[in-house]
Amino acid sequence: LSSIRVDVSTVEPGTQLTVKWLGKPVFIRRRTDDEIAKARAVELSELPDQGAENANIAADSPATDENRAMVGNEEWLVMMGVCTHLGCVPLGDAGDFGGWFCPCHGSHYDTAGRIRKGPAPTNLPVPIAEFVDETTIKLG
Ligand code: FES
Repeated sequence: LSSIRVDVSTVEPGTQLTVKWLGKPVFIRRRTDDEIAKARAVELSELPDQGAENANIAADSPATDENRAMVGNEEWLVMMGVCTHLGCVPLGDAGDFGGWFCPCHGSHYDTAGRIRKGPAPTNLPVPIAEFVDETTIKLG
């Protein structure tokens, strides 16, 4: 299977990289403490999609912030940058929840990439990803 390695050494807190993988954009965001706190303050019952949608953990895991972020390194969030409505690329640092906003039909994602408002049915999927050293993430 095709995997790629991404150097994240230059990514500052509060910024993100977008890389192409398997022909699709992948967002790699280094979150601030504030972004993490905001995501953790949300009750699961408020989420339209209560599944973690994370390929690295059990399929029925709940959509807590911990289950969305990189295991053991929760300032990092890695997700497919493809809106789960009809596939547009959402914009970062945007929308009503401070996460991502899809301008095509108005889907708002929070700072854990979970859908909060708009037509998208599910959270932005988290692909297989792991840190292979302190500054390198392997996708796939
Ligand atoms: Fe994103 Fe429709 S494709 S809201």
